[in-house]
Amino acid sequence: MTKAEIAAAGDSLSSVRAAAMGCRACPLWQTATQTVFGEGPERARIMLVGEQPGDVEDLKGKPFVGPAGQLLGRALAEAGIDREALYVTNAVKHFKFVPRGKRRMHQKPNSLEIKACRPWLEKELALVDPALIVALGGTAAQALFGRAVPIGKSRGQVIDLAGRKSLVTVHPSYLLRLPDEESRHREYTAFVADLRLARRVGA
Ligand code: URA
Repeated sequence: MTKAEIAAAGDSLSSVRAAAMGCRACPLWQTATQTVFGEGPERARIMLVGEQPGDVEDLKGKPFVGPAGQLLGRALAEAGIDREALYVTNAVKHFKFVPRGKRRMHQKPNSLEIKACRPWLEKELALVDPALIVALGGTAAQALFGRAVPIGKSRGQVIDLAGRKSLVTVHPSYLLRLPDEESRHREYTAFVADLRLARRVGA
């Protein structure tokens, strides 16, 4: 979809979401089940941006409803944030995977796919107009800032993003991949601390 086609989709999240269902701007639509558009109140104060839908999200058509989404939900609750009050979306809106036996293994989207999907993210930003954007992980940060952002160095700082406040933190899938209990606990605690900061900055 070109910017002009997206502009023609109108100025409500529901009409833009409907237009995104037919997006063919990169090849990912061919193997994914459906476009997974963002969800949440049209006037949310905080927007969370993830990488791309996973296997469960692809089947259900909703962002962050699989294992990473469950961990995110738990961390948000611990940080005192009501998930229902957030707008939750992804940098890339189709699931990218390679089949392995019966399983579909997640693959990182490349820069062309991120770029192709960016007009949808821009439109969501323009319509929701959040006070704070939180990038979950490197792909979201790259999509938002247009460059690689070192998460470790940048987390905990409010960063200006074209006149809007933003924060970067890790992706919840990163926490799921950690090999031992000690690092999982340490990193989860740091993630919740980042979300507490988001609650204060986005209030
Ligand atoms: N990971 C993401 O980045 N987004 C989702 O919606 C699910 C998993």
